[in-house]
Formats: sequence, C-alpha cells, structure tokens
Amino acid sequence: MNTLYGGDDPVFICICNAVTDGDIERAAARGACALRDLRRELGVASGCGRCAGAARACLQRARAAERSATAQTPPGGGRTGELYSAVRSRAGGVS
Ligand code: FES
Repeated sequence: MNTLYGGDDPVFICICNAVTDGDIERAAARGACALRDLRRELGVASGCGRCAGAARACLQRARAAERSATAQTPPGGGRTGELYSAVRSRAGGVS
C-alpha cells in the first residue's frame, strides 16, 4: 500500500532518476528532512529539476505521517498505549 497517496502502485516523483514516493518515504524514515537530503541520497531534482516541488511535498507528507505515527505510539505500547490514549482524550487531544 502506498501510504502517501493511498494507491497500491508506487508513484514516480522524479522521472529523471526513477525515484518513487516510497523511496522518499524511506529516505524520510532514515532522517531526510530537506530537498538537499533527497538530492544527495536519491538524486532527486538533480536532472531537469521539475520534480522539486512534488518531492518537497512528498517529503513533508512522509515526515508528517511519521510524526503522527510516533506521537500515537508511546514507548511500551500495549496497556501503556491504552492509558496514554485515555489521558490524551481527557486532555482534549486527538486519541
Ligand atoms: S524529474 Fe527529477 S530531475 Fe527531472
């Protein structure tokens, strides 16, 4: 499953270097936080450069998804996770 765009197939973000949204998602998980990181690691935007905007947007989505997943998974998970969700609900946060 393509977590960034919801489809089952990879979406090519950088045609010149055959970089997909999944490649960018994995780069984000390894710590890429800016276009220059994607350029260095994957070659994104090092050819024609037309992919720069889409790559940036894809990276932002990947980082937001990662932050969201991290925020909802407390250390320990399991029962701790249930308590964590209950506390967040009472505090008015998103459960
Ligand atoms: S599409 Fe990415 S450099 Fe050309």
